[in-house]
Amino acid sequence: PENIGIHGIEVYFPSTYVAQEDLEKFDGVSQGKYTLGLGQTNMAFCGDREDIYSLSLNAVNNLMEKFNVDPNSIGRLEVGTETVIDKSKSVKTVLMDLFAKHGNTSIDGVDTINACYGGTSALHNALQWIESSYWDGRNAIVVAGDIAVYEKGPARPTGGAGVVAMLIGPNAPITFETGLRGVHMENVYDFYKPDMDSEYPRVDGKLSISCYFRAIDNCYNRYAKTFEKKYGKTFSLDQVDYALFHSPYNKLVQKSFGRMLYNDFLNNKNDPRYASLEAYKNVKPEDTYFDSTLEKALTALTKNDYANKVAPTTLLAKQLGNTYCGSTYSGLLSLLDDKSNELVGKRVLTFSYGSGLAASAFSFKVEKPIDNIVEKVDLKNRLAKRVRVEPEIFTEKLSLRETRHNLKNYVPSDSTSNMFPGSFYLSSVDNAGIRKYDRA
Ligand code: ACO
Repeated sequence: PENIGIHGIEVYFPSTYVAQEDLEKFDGVSQGKYTLGLGQTNMAFCGDREDIYSLSLNAVNNLMEKFNVDPNSIGRLEVGTETVIDKSKSVKTVLMDLFAKHGNTSIDGVDTINACYGGTSALHNALQWIESSYWDGRNAIVVAGDIAVYEKGPARPTGGAGVVAMLIGPNAPITFETGLRGVHMENVYDFYKPDMDSEYPRVDGKLSISCYFRAIDNCYNRYAKTFEKKYGKTFSLDQVDYALFHSPYNKLVQKSFGRMLYNDFLNNKNDPRYASLEAYKNVKPEDTYFDSTLEKALTALTKNDYANKVAPTTLLAKQLGNTYCGSTYSGLLSLLDDKSNELVGKRVLTFSYGSGLAASAFSFKVEKPIDNIVEKVDLKNRLAKRVRVEPEIFTEKLSLRETRHNLKNYVPSDSTSNMFPGSFYLSSVDNAGIRKYDRA
């Protein structure tokens, strides 16, 4: 099989959001800290009617309806998430409800977990399955997303919620470049979830940022080696039409694109284009993660390229917040929505990061027109239909989730009247912890 990639894509996000400018006032931080300092606009969140099962049911169900997917045409379904509500049963098994009723129980794959990286691991598994001797000719669906919530404090505005579902198969309009990948993984405690009685992670923000940059440095250069081997020419950002990043918050994406240019400089220190970085010729990369002088120089050097190559990927991450496993793929969808058929023939370099840590860089190209995909997703109209709620309500809903976490024998109390029509929602959890769903 050739040209393995994405035939269809869909995102599900909750119908309510809180505005970051409202949160700044509510939290009593300086004006601009979340909107300019973090670069975020709005944040999606869930009350107690939605969980990772309902979000994923919605993403997959809507993908199948919009793209007319025959349930029997799917041979692999994988979920990447870190929103764990059961220590054993995978989200994937819940999604089997959508297929078993049509007679298809022959679908391989389960969940993949590592912070924000599970979605990428699931995607790579699906691509490699189709390339392998185990492939049976059917398509795959990859689900990537999370409900990202933090306890009150500086990390709370970097939450979010959303799930992306992708239909993967051969002869696709959006194809992954075979053989090109740079991987970096190591054992660190930058963000992790050892508290089974809480949804919240433990996070060392500064450490997570330095880990993210170190992962970029390594993945970018390792990807470059595979590129040079495959195409026999030097790799740099000149070969990249668009750059797509896992986006915890937009400011980190701006800095990360600069970080890629910094690696181009390290690989070609005498290129006159990088004259403003002269002072960094002999500084170790690991000593520059929080060097604001270097950051400023890189921001200046990448200003135009950021606007052209990165900004078109950022809509959903600014509107939904960090969707953890869904973040990179919500960026992919934002790019498709923004550029549509202009993307034909273009290369998109992608960087995916999950704390703990697991990261990789890889790339895809758009080979055929995609305006039919963009039309079906109808992204901007759907975003416009969301309801903005006050930070007080947002805070109440997160407190409600805290009391409901791990609880059994209850009926959620949140209203379902604001939900997008037809959406799955949690209707009850019984004594034995078995969850039931209904549709709005
Ligand atoms: N106007 C404009 N900018 C402002 C303002 C203002 N009023 N106030 C602050 N800023 C800027 C700061 O200068 C800073 O900019 P810089 O990053 O260029 O230095 C930025 O806003 C953030 O301010 P900080 O004081 O650094 O923020 P704080 O330390 O309170 O929290 C953090 C930020 C660490 C990112 C926190 O939100 C967090 O821990 N988030 C979760 C961890 C995370 O997302 N890590 C990323 C990778 S791992 C993952 O994906 C989960």
